[in-house]
Amino acid sequence: MLAPESPILENRTATAVSSSQPIKPIIHRPRRLRRTETLRRMVRENALRVEDLIYPLFVMEGEGQREEVPSMPGCYRYTLDLLLDEVKQAYQLGISAIALFPLIPYDQKDNAGTESYNPNGLIPRAVRAIKQAVPEMVVITDVALDPYSSEGHDGIVQDGKILNDETVAVLVKQALVQAEAGADFVAPSDMMDGRVGAIRQALDAEGWINVGILSYAAKYASAYYGPFRDALDSAPKFGDKKTYQMDAANAREAIKEVEMDIAEGADIVMVKPALAYLDIICRIKQHTNLPVAAYNVSGEYAMIKAAAQQGWIDENKVILETLTSIKRAGADLILTYFAKQVALLLQQ
Ligand code: PBG
Repeated sequence: MLAPESPILENRTATAVSSSQPIKPIIHRPRRLRRTETLRRMVRENALRVEDLIYPLFVMEGEGQREEVPSMPGCYRYTLDLLLDEVKQAYQLGISAIALFPLIPYDQKDNAGTESYNPNGLIPRAVRAIKQAVPEMVVITDVALDPYSSEGHDGIVQDGKILNDETVAVLVKQALVQAEAGADFVAPSDMMDGRVGAIRQALDAEGWINVGILSYAAKYASAYYGPFRDALDSAPKFGDKKTYQMDAANAREAIKEVEMDIAEGADIVMVKPALAYLDIICRIKQHTNLPVAAYNVSGEYAMIKAAAQQGWIDENKVILETLTSIKRAGADLILTYFAKQVALLLQQ
């Protein structure tokens, strides 16, 4: 019991001074470390950094146009000229990497995804232009057939089935064309078996030893990809992707997939989607010393935007909390359509 004249200082409870009751000792008071913002910052375990962000971008043919994706408010498909402005802005905000996805006109699509390895196709042209305009930007290209497939599948279709090895042969051509155009990383998102090894071998054989592979190692068959398929007009024309993308109920299988991709030469492994799969991110992080990426996918973006538009949540706070949770789960890198918005928030 203190003398009544003892001053009440910030770090002492008023009860000590005013009450005659003895203060009950509690050995640990975790709230001590939460008392001020400075203290909270000191003991903060994870921090989102702009360097963690990879910005996915949609590119389309044409000039001087951008089209908002209806199910992804604030996200656009850009013609190449306007895409360059967007990439410059992103780079100025400190974003170091972009992931490119093309909207392919329907008349260029076929079952074999032939346009995917056209050296003068939209993606190779975009990569060359970006590398010329912003050489420091890390450019990641998607390796998969779906934007180019008349069937909307990630592989060649025969009798309603997705062919594996025939598809891998096309993916290898696609990856080589992307490397040739100047991509820093190729990112196979198709989930065919053996594609990482085949791509690594082909890249090395052609001398592209410094082109990395960011593998979509644990990619689930997810309903969260809906808005992305709107953006690229790439929804499957029949069936679903469950014979190649993973079953949402499986966790050990994700480790198997990651181990295989590492053995085949992946430089970075990815888990996708992120939010419904935070446990997978956490397990993979414990399992490998490779950098782990997570894809905060289109449906995750759309849900936050939609709730915010209704005024039901505080958009900026929910975005930061969400991306921090992905970081905390173990992701070193986060692909997110919020990248620019977050880069701005992190500057405040
Ligand atoms: C396709 C691909 C998809 C996404 C990235 N690459 C969709 C799919 O597998 O159907 C989804 C990304 C997103 O939803 O943001 N290879």
